[in-house]
Amino acid sequence: MKAIGLLLISSLLFTTHNANGNPIQGYDQVVLGGKEALQRLSNVQSELSATEYLSDAKKAILKGKHNMQKWFHDGKEFIKQNGLLYELVSIPPFKEHQLRVTEPNLCDAFVKQYSGYLDVAEDKHLFFWFFESRSSPKDAPLVLWLNGGPGCSSSTGLLFELGPCNIANDGKNTTHNPYSWNTHANIIFLDQPVDVGFSYADDGTTVNTSPVAGKDVYAFLELFLNRFPEYSKQPFHIAAESYGGTYAPNFANVIHQENKKLGLAPVPQLKHINLASVILANGLTDPYIQMASLPDYVCEGPYPVYDDPQGPECQALRSKIPTCQRLIKSCYQYDSRFTCVPALLYCNNMFGSLMQLGLNPYDVRRKCDRSKDGDLCYEQLLWIETWMNDPKNKAALGVNPDQTFASCNMDVNRAFAMQGDGMRNSARLLPELVNDGIRLLVYAGNADMMCNYIGNERWVEQLDSKFHKEFSATKSVPWITAHSGKLAGEVRAAGGAGFTAGNVTFVNVFEAGHMVPFDQSEAALDLFTRWIMDTPLTLRKAT
Ligand SMILES: *[C@@H]1O[C@H](CO)[C@@H](O)[C@H](O)[C@H]1NC(C)=O
Ligand SMILES: *[C@@H]1O[C@H](CO)[C@@H](O)[C@H](O)[C@H]1NC(C)=O
Repeated sequence: MKAIGLLLISSLLFTTHNANGNPIQGYDQVVLGGKEALQRLSNVQSELSATEYLSDAKKAILKGKHNMQKWFHDGKEFIKQNGLLYELVSIPPFKEHQLRVTEPNLCDAFVKQYSGYLDVAEDKHLFFWFFESRSSPKDAPLVLWLNGGPGCSSSTGLLFELGPCNIANDGKNTTHNPYSWNTHANIIFLDQPVDVGFSYADDGTTVNTSPVAGKDVYAFLELFLNRFPEYSKQPFHIAAESYGGTYAPNFANVIHQENKKLGLAPVPQLKHINLASVILANGLTDPYIQMASLPDYVCEGPYPVYDDPQGPECQALRSKIPTCQRLIKSCYQYDSRFTCVPALLYCNNMFGSLMQLGLNPYDVRRKCDRSKDGDLCYEQLLWIETWMNDPKNKAALGVNPDQTFASCNMDVNRAFAMQGDGMRNSARLLPELVNDGIRLLVYAGNADMMCNYIGNERWVEQLDSKFHKEFSATKSVPWITAHSGKLAGEVRAAGGAGFTAGNVTFVNVFEAGHMVPFDQSEAALDLFTRWIMDTPLTLRKAT
């Protein structure tokens, strides 16, 4: 049906294409709307003059771009660009933004998918890929998944950790993931900010701070929910890994503040986003506390990197903590790059000798051979690049053939570093959210050295929310997975008196590195599902 749809559209609206059977090889895009829309399109007598209907912002987007055609049909706008077809979505409150949407059929053949771009004004373009839930999508919550870096693509989450398929076979193929998080949730994977993954900027625009990145993410969500209102009523969760521990509190804060403004002065077409929880996975959120935990983790953690906790390496590392914390304190106090960059340089430097040990810093149980495994120590991340750069996959996703995909963009990484963004206190944004009823889950695989679980548990314990006292007084209890009954970790939760998953919950995931769903796929799905359903992670009362 999809292939036929394409033929119809091509032959009717682009008369240079002749519907003789297969004039459209090279891409397999589909205009959204299914059979019905195609039927309606087949009745189109003449192509409308696209430019008549364009807002100034959209004219700007088209400025200087040839090889682009647009038309309007039945209240929807369509665009053909570089041989790829998209539906265009815009809403008046966002004059500078539009969504360009296509419908791929990769990775999970049995669910609805959308992918494409959020275009911001004429220069920023953020790539997204959405999968509907494998079960009752109309009731399933909506989740935004973000990887970190900064500068790394969310396709790591998609193809390596928790998406509907896993990268396989050197990147020639993918395999079905039975533990995908779209088992019970609708999920969006977003590459942000610009220049990450398939996202791009036309004229060298950069985004280099989390608060600024948050504005585009908010615009993206509003446009998405306006186009797909069927996902706007359910609870919404933002889940982010690694540097996402910095992004997500900022993004959640933007959403929450915008929700509040809308509560006071509703704007037609702007939707309240039902932000239900923030999920931080092996994140960097409160560097003052987390950086200081590094010696404790590498010298006395469950997988010690140095044999002797009192040995010279451990002493040298510990001796750096006071300076690191002093610098971060001044970063917290002045919140400017002049104080935050020095903190970042000094504190990151503590990892220097640890990176020379031949270990995988994301999973210290493993060795890392960078010549074989790549800089990020997982050969699968190289396979992802192969797969994403396959012209067939690009075309199916609505990605311009000229775009080159990299798992992580080090220029973006440096741009954030030069703002000292990663040393800011993102934890300070969370108490207001938690106190206003937005739940917080922080989990960490216990073999990760980069954002270790000890530091994560400590900052959650310090978090100055309504649940502070209760959390401090609460002990961890075993977390047993519901299906296989496996001891998968420990959970410490405050709020809900053991009848819910908690309002502030920390989970230490056993035998998992930085990317928990990769190492413990069944347990990770158990954790995620119980969290979004707000049922306890343990049957024992968490006090
Ligand atoms: C890719 O995997 C699918 C099933 O998972 C299989 O049918 C197909 O033959 C594989 N293709 C290649 C090129 O390995
Ligand atoms: C705690 O979470 C529940 C949902 O489980 C929510 O209804 C409640 O408002 C939250 N409590 C507070 C004090 O925010």
